[in-house]
Amino acid sequence: DTFSASQYKTSDATSFAHTSARERWPIIITQGIDDVHRSLHGTQDEQTLSEGKHIVSELAKLKYEVQHDRVLTPIPDDGESDVAAYNSELAARGSPKWHSVPWLYSECYLYRRISSIFKQTTNWKSYDLFARQKMATFRSSRPAVLELAARYKDIVTELEQKHTIQGAKTQADLEEAEQVLFVEMCEICLWGNATDLSLLTNLSYEDIQKLQGSEARKASEKNILVNDLSKAFKILTAAKKEGKKERRVDIVLDNAGFELFVDLILAGYLLASGLATTIVFHPKSIPWFVSDVLPADFGALLSALANSQNFYGSLSDDDQAAGKAPVPLTDAENANLQFLFQHWASMHGEGQFVLRPNIFWTAGGSYWRLPQSEPELYEDLKESELVIFKGDLNYRKLTADAAWQATTPFTDAIGPMGPGSGIRVLALRTCKADVVVGLPEGEDERIKAMAGGGGDSGARKWAWSGKWAVVQLSDGKTS
Ligand code: F6P
Ligand code: MG
Repeated sequence: DTFSASQYKTSDATSFAHTSARERWPIIITQGIDDVHRSLHGTQDEQTLSEGKHIVSELAKLKYEVQHDRVLTPIPDDGESDVAAYNSELAARGSPKWHSVPWLYSECYLYRRISSIFKQTTNWKSYDLFARQKMATFRSSRPAVLELAARYKDIVTELEQKHTIQGAKTQADLEEAEQVLFVEMCEICLWGNATDLSLLTNLSYEDIQKLQGSEARKASEKNILVNDLSKAFKILTAAKKEGKKERRVDIVLDNAGFELFVDLILAGYLLASGLATTIVFHPKSIPWFVSDVLPADFGALLSALANSQNFYGSLSDDDQAAGKAPVPLTDAENANLQFLFQHWASMHGEGQFVLRPNIFWTAGGSYWRLPQSEPELYEDLKESELVIFKGDLNYRKLTADAAWQATTPFTDAIGPMGPGSGIRVLALRTCKADVVVGLPEGEDERIKAMAGGGGDSGARKWAWSGKWAVVQLSDGKTS
């Protein structure tokens, strides 16, 4: 990659990279070890048991290496095609150590190393050590899930039966109502990202529920520092008016559970309103940054909805241990969830929801490399009206995780993905890392000066917690 700013490193004392490597990663590995232990409890099979014990000891070794600032070692040949690229980059970086290595590469490497431990076994090859956590947080999002399911059913029913939105009499009314809903759906989708599991090390479930309700969303609008949603809406309506038959929107997914749920809400709305005709989802191929969506997470979410009474009527192991009693759904709540399930299942059945994994999304580099390293995917994304990149890591990858000035235009910071690329990029990002671009002059300084903002410590602390967000568009189709 060639860009003028330098990448954040785990040795930068003022970067979130510093605490990530020293505090968060060991905790994340420990949680993984606990999960494998749990699965071992219910296992009788000899080989599964012995492989499981081996996995635990390999994870413990990895944790030791991270904590004791050892050298990053080559990823063993586990049969996958991306090992060579990871390892040649490692060699080119000169055998770095955990506490002084570019943040983006080393964090991707961490999850790839974890995955290779599983891939080298026979019975644990496709085991997802984060699946339990993902489902547990989805379960704890129940109040927001029920609120959104009710709202979704009302909106979609109206759109499908009357082809209009309540109160809209003229075409202009309808378009305005459509825009209001589009913005609302996108903002739901944006804040659904505020609560990913890799940050759960410092957020309680109660905090999460507060973040997910509709009141919280309205109050949070002032925390969206740049909001290009009206531009995105114009792009989608223009394509519709042009009479273009195929109008595809892509979602480069981030987290499973509640965030995937709200991604599907947005996707369903885009189809029901005719703002798009197909939605292509891009999941990850290996357990990634704890909470990211794997293809299996789709199935897990849909089957939780299909069997919602069972899902919510039973307790997670932790709740059971805490002596909680299950609270059954009311008939209306259950009906709303069934409506959602049916609607999404039929869209999937009709080929309007498409799942398209690609190994590029779990590579160790930034998206600046897309045209070079995955030309077919690059061409494919050009076919889309709008490619929505969800979440923090996608934003770090778009901007190469480099220490840009906060006023650097978004279109510059995304390099080859920017103007002239032929790709329309929309980033929906709650800030959980240092890099931020496209801010008006003085904005970074203004927020730094607020309580907890970082002051003049040199750290952009305000950008670490998911409290602030940016929604930025680059229209790569016009140059
Ligand atoms: O900043 C914490 C962190 O875990 C980063 O390591 C990573 O970029 C990000 O959050 C993951 O968040 P998201 O799920 O939004 O990409
Ligand atoms: Mg994530």
